[in-house]
Amino acid sequence: MNVYDTEIVKTVLADNKYKLTEEAEDADIVLLNTCSVRENANRKVFNRISHLKHQSKDVQIGILGCMATNFRKQLLENPKLPIDFIAGPDSYKRLPQLIQEMDPTDTSGNFDVTLSEFETYSDVYPTHRTGVNAWIAVMRGCDNFCTFCVVPYTRGRERSRSPENIVEEVHKLADEGFRQVTLLGQNVNSYKFEEHDFAHLLEQVSAVPGIERIRFTSPHPKDFPRNLLEVISSNDKVCKQIHLPLQAGNDRVLEMMNRTYTRKEYMELVDEIRTLYPNMALSTDIIVGFPTETAEEFNETAEIMEEVEYDSAFIFKYSERPQTIAKRKFPDDVAEEEKTRRIVQLNEIQKRNSYKRNLAHIGETQEVLLEKESTKKSDQEYQGRNDANKIVIFPKGGYLSGQFLNVKITDATPHVLRGEVVEVLGK
Ligand code: 5AD
Ligand code: SF4
Repeated sequence: MNVYDTEIVKTVLADNKYKLTEEAEDADIVLLNTCSVRENANRKVFNRISHLKHQSKDVQIGILGCMATNFRKQLLENPKLPIDFIAGPDSYKRLPQLIQEMDPTDTSGNFDVTLSEFETYSDVYPTHRTGVNAWIAVMRGCDNFCTFCVVPYTRGRERSRSPENIVEEVHKLADEGFRQVTLLGQNVNSYKFEEHDFAHLLEQVSAVPGIERIRFTSPHPKDFPRNLLEVISSNDKVCKQIHLPLQAGNDRVLEMMNRTYTRKEYMELVDEIRTLYPNMALSTDIIVGFPTETAEEFNETAEIMEEVEYDSAFIFKYSERPQTIAKRKFPDDVAEEEKTRRIVQLNEIQKRNSYKRNLAHIGETQEVLLEKESTKKSDQEYQGRNDANKIVIFPKGGYLSGQFLNVKITDATPHVLRGEVVEVLGK
């Protein structure tokens, strides 16, 4: 979402005659688009600020995104913090004004961190997109209040754009040559505009000529009604990949997290998906060491990972966040070493499963959207992604980024597939 929001910010600023520089060193003003979801993300921003100020004392620094509210408090407590202006996730249209009205003598900074019930940036068409995928936010905010999560506080309430407005943007993207769109939202499958739900939106977007692949992120397991699962499994343009954040495998912990599903309900959803489409790629998010989680309860998370065999998993140590219900009510009482032990154990399970699932694809011919030169051997190889969003690497030929190719898979690691191009597709 921050990559997309940065595209919005670049567009708003470019429309107001600001010029983008390639390197931070050349800039008069540097904007940092921040994330608050875990403490690590916060730490990176503070390091970056001191690095920038070290490079140039005169550079002006603006903070955008989820850390905006926090920074406002810190700025008031510490007027020496070298921040000149702050804009929260719903205030990007006011950025030119915030920059113009900056007052270097006022140490409390210039800021707008108000959250809106309506702002969806539906009237800003990002003109600075890069790569072969176009992100497009279809809803913003979150009403779920999982007890560990800061997002409902930093990004405010759920609101969706109209399907007409989204489809109009997708038509423009197709005209610009994009073949893949990724629909974005903090809770993308809670999308709701009047009587239109997410299944309806997927169908509308897939009807746009020129768009060949549709992805979406990030969904919540509570919002997968049957009609949505049927659209995902049967519509050729919707990629056969679902992110299904589990967070924890034990019912007591799930309840404390306010995830609103039980282990059994989650597993029934996995079964329903695999009955409809046996090869659906599944990925997940997991938190280890949530307050009071015992070793036995953690083992239930490990069991689910063994049982589901996800294609990939993002595994995090619980990180206490300001304002959240978990911080207010529960002690962060799982020792750091124990969190480390748990994360290591789950990463080992995941590595084994990813490898097993990748090996099973050897011999298949898969449709790959070519992205760019391979990050490791840029002089010899290209990389793209298959329908399941896995990276596929193959020897260079006269192919172009944005082309669809049929690639025969010949080798696999836990992280990537390798193969050879057998056909250039006319898409
Ligand atoms: N601590 C650790 N992980 C978190 N996430 C969200 N909040 C926290 C937190 N306080 C993880 C969840 C979510 C992903 C985006 O980040 O797994 O799905
Ligand atoms: Fe955070 Fe839960 Fe909302 Fe996801 S659904 S953004 S984890 S509160």
